[in-house]
Amino acid sequence: MDSGMGGLSVWKEIRASLPNESLIYYADAAHCPYGDRDHDEIRGYVEYAVAQMFDKGAKMIVLACNTATASAIQYLRAEYPSVPFVGMEPAVKPAAAATKTGTIAVLATRSSLDGGHFKRTSAEYADKVRILSAVGEGWVPLVESGKENTAEALEAVRVVVEPLLAENADQLVLGCTHYPFLTRAIRQVIGDRDVKTVNSAPAIVRRVRNLLSQGELEASLSNVPEYTFMSSAGQDYLSRLREKAETAVNMEF
Ligand code: DGL
Repeated sequence: MDSGMGGLSVWKEIRASLPNESLIYYADAAHCPYGDRDHDEIRGYVEYAVAQMFDKGAKMIVLACNTATASAIQYLRAEYPSVPFVGMEPAVKPAAAATKTGTIAVLATRSSLDGGHFKRTSAEYADKVRILSAVGEGWVPLVESGKENTAEALEAVRVVVEPLLAENADQLVLGCTHYPFLTRAIRQVIGDRDVKTVNSAPAIVRRVRNLLSQGELEASLSNVPEYTFMSSAGQDYLSRLREKAETAVNMEF
């Protein structure tokens, strides 16, 4: 689940790596964006979405949303101890290992950056690297409305990314699942500078694979997967969500 379409950047990787697994994708578009809401409110929305996915027979839940993870994962794990939950968190560790300048930047929503988890991770790496953080202001609505390849998106990306590059960050951690959809604009702003974007989705796929195997939950090799889409918004949103999923399948993040 995600607040909207951003989690498709994770859905796409899971679908490609685990081709026999059926997937349910829930977009809580009625409450998107989550990024500026408080943790208790977000937790309530996520709990509702998770209940809907259990009703459809989900055997594992992936919170394909850093903001939802920061607000709800501890609560959900305590509430449903027999279900595996996988959450997203900004990929600080690989970025800290890869930086050459000693400065990395984490891009995420305000609520994720305010969360205890991110603060703890930052503190853990603070003596090794300098960690800058920034909110991708306006980025989530651009992705939700399919405007990622517009001049408006390029400008929204430029105002956030340029100051981070000016501070010498050479690793841009995409700590919100909507942000990979803006990779093209981000790369355009980076230009020929030696700066990389870091996406957490591949690590999440490894985690999903391991937990499926540990719990003996894998679908059989003969399973023909079904892809189900759900949303708290109307039919129109659902059609756009399906279209975006088709586009995401062929995108390189
Ligand atoms: N895609 C979400 C994340 O990973 C949240 C976007 C939002 O709703 O603000 O944090």
